This record gives sequence, C-alpha cells and structure tokens, in this order.
Amino acid sequence: MTGKVDAEEQIYTPPLGFAALTPLYDAAIAVFTREGKWRTHIISALSPKAGDLILDIGSGTGRLAEKIYRAEPQARYLGIDPDKAAAAIARKRAAKNGSTAKFCVRFFDGTEAIENTPPNKIVSSLVLHQTPLTEKRRIIQCAYDTLPVGGVFVLADYGLQNTALMRFMFRLSVQALDGFENTQPNANGVLPELFEQSGFSGIAEIANVATPTGSISILRALKPETDRERGR
Ligand SMILES: C[S@@+](CC[C@H](N)C(=O)[O-])C[C@H]1O[C@@H](n2cnc3c(N)ncnc32)[C@H](O)[C@@H]1O
Repeated sequence: MTGKVDAEEQIYTPPLGFAALTPLYDAAIAVFTREGKWRTHIISALSPKAGDLILDIGSGTGRLAEKIYRAEPQARYLGIDPDKAAAAIARKRAAKNGSTAKFCVRFFDGTEAIENTPPNKIVSSLVLHQTPLTEKRRIIQCAYDTLPVGGVFVLADYGLQNTALMRFMFRLSVQALDGFENTQPNANGVLPELFEQSGFSGIAEIANVATPTGSISILRALKPETDRERGR
C-alpha cells in the first residue's frame, strides 16, 4: 500500500506515504521516530562548518535544514525534493527562522549547486526506504560522483532491523504506509553494501536508534582520496 505520485516522468512516494497526509508529517515524525535523537546524530556526523555547502536529498518539510541552521548559521544549505507541498512547508519554516536555506523541487542529478559551487557535504534522511532499489543505488552513486575527494555523505534511515521487535514494529508502521517492496531491502541491511559498491570508504554506522517504528541507522561515509587508495 503506498500513495505513489508521478512527478512528470518519475514516480516517488510523498513524505508520509500519501499526499493527503503531508500536513501531518512533522507531528508524526516527532511522535513516532524519536526525531530529536537521530537528527542530533546527523548533526554531529555532518559537523556543519561556516562555508560548507550541504546538499540534503529529499529535504521534505525542512526539519533537518532548521537543525543545521541552528548548529551553524554560516553553513550554506540546499534542499531538494520532488514534492511541492513539502518544499512549500520547508520554505515557510526557513523564512520564519530567518535562515538562508534554499529548497528546489526536483530529483537529484548531481548538477545541484549554489552560485556554481557544488556541495562538499551531502545528507539524506528517511528517503531511501521509500525508493526502489534502483533509485537507492542511483542516489548513492550520484552522491559519490558529486562529492569532492574527502567529501562526506551522511545517511539516516530505517536500516537493518535486527531484532524481532524492531522487525515487527517496522512492518506494522513504515511498511504499512510505504509498502513492502521498497522498504524490505533497507530492513535486510542493503545500505552499507550500496555505499561500498559506489566507492565510498570509511563506511560506519555511527548510531542506531530504536524507535516505535523500527530502528534508524545513521551511516557516515567518505569519498576516498584516490582510486588506488580505495583498492580499485
Ligand atoms: C519521509 S520523508 C523525509 C523528509 C526529510 N528528509 C526528513 O528527514 O524529515 C521522504 C522524502 O523523500 C522524498 N522523496 C521520495 N522519493 C525521492 C527521490 N527519488 N529522490 C529524492 N527525494 C525523494 C519525498 O518527497 C519526501 O519528502
């Protein structure tokens, strides 16, 4: 069961599985995912600095943009998301906070930049569990290709569900809303494998947060210095 949306030629799943539920997204995430905990882990893995250009793939309603702005107001931020309704909420939130965060309605293709500067850090949260396996692979590979050497990619999402309780909670909540086909590869632990296949190094799960909707992994990976160093 999912409420997939056709954004011109590419299909995607909206923030809470169905477009009509988007206004409820912020409240649902706050109540059902221990949001403060995993977003704090993202901020420490991303370590925003003045002058960074942080690209957020699937930026949704701008909750992470707000947290990044509070952590480092001098870091530049670009959020992209195919969902217009979510981007409108994100823009309103940024304006209210006085943040310079920018939001574009689009899919990630590696050409994203602000004033011709490409991102040196990329982040994505709660997106890949909603996408087909081919799109998970494409996004991770495109992140690798887009980053400069030494660039960091931080990904937070439902990953390997390694206890019976977490598998049960995940099935009851996330899989009921977003469907089985896209979510199960995450639950089987595919994400670190996809990072490795794309060429990333130093892949580490820096935190794993048990929530009422399944466990959320925070993964961090680096683009290594040269092809030789990463053993290709
Ligand atoms: C569950 S929401 C997460 C939003 C936000 N990252 C957060 O942490 O709250 C997933 C978001 O991913 C977006 N999305 C779905 N498929 C996508 C794709 N192929 N590329 C980029 N974003 C996508 C949806 O529109 C939605 O806003």
